[in-house]
Amino acid sequence: MARNDQYFKVNKATWNNKVKVHAESKMYDMHAFRNGKSSLMPYELQALGDVNRKSLLHLQCHFGQDTLSWSRMGAQCVGVDISDEGIALAQQLNEELGLNAQFVCCNVLDTSEKVSDTFDIVFTSYGVIGWLPDLKPWGQMIAERLKKDGTFFMAEFHPMVWMFDYLEGKPKMKYGYMLDEVIYEEYKGTYANTNSNMISKEYGWNHGLGEVVSALSEAGLHIEYLKEHDESPYNVLPDLVETDSGMYVTKDRLYPLIFTLKATKINR
Ligand SMILES: C[S@@+](CC[C@H](N)C(=O)[O-])C[C@H]1O[C@@H](n2cnc3c(N)ncnc32)[C@H](O)[C@@H]1O
Repeated sequence: MARNDQYFKVNKATWNNKVKVHAESKMYDMHAFRNGKSSLMPYELQALGDVNRKSLLHLQCHFGQDTLSWSRMGAQCVGVDISDEGIALAQQLNEELGLNAQFVCCNVLDTSEKVSDTFDIVFTSYGVIGWLPDLKPWGQMIAERLKKDGTFFMAEFHPMVWMFDYLEGKPKMKYGYMLDEVIYEEYKGTYANTNSNMISKEYGWNHGLGEVVSALSEAGLHIEYLKEHDESPYNVLPDLVETDSGMYVTKDRLYPLIFTLKATKINR
């Protein structure tokens, strides 16, 4: 078994189990989504603007709500995810809604083996890089799948967020900012339904901002910006407070919750 395959196998099984729980959750609100509500958040909507007629590759698309939201805005989308249950539901939703997205089930690191097209936009968001042991092959794959002058955009939880253990009462700073070792967590429920009886078993890795930027720039991308934000569009961490604009912040706003990064593929 190749290095890390045993981790990906466990994560895939957990994500397969999460699909049904999430599809029935209040957070993913399938009823509103089916009736036309976009699942996209202000950070990515503002950053990518008009996507009409653009080709868009969505990495780690879960069961496709965001991919299909971009499709509804006129983008020609391909979504990739390791979870076959997620991809099956995404394909079903695509058909049901009469959209034209395509979905591919594979490890995101193997995307170039399954998808040969190049894209105007590569997009990924909120809870993605922590499932990958090493960002170098991820950065290379993104550069391979972008057209020249194409845009990569990501909105992700800030690495500070992953320094805490949230499973035992009050969040406790426990994990290294750029810890190399794998982190294993096992807990009841998921971020979208903490009351669910499913047991999440997960292997993850922490990546500092320097690692993210270097993986992309070494692969040939020009970083347009890296922004840190203390407002999260998702209420998935303990003790967040809702703002008037519907975002979530920590009580004291001591550290960022989200970062956004935009990059362009340049000719080398
Ligand atoms: C937190 S979700 C992404 C969030 C997404 N924006 C959403 O809420 O719909 C993480 C996704 O990454 C996928 N994933 C985890 N490890 C992966 C891997 N190695 N390759 C591809 N997908 C992976 C999971 O199946 C899951 O769908």
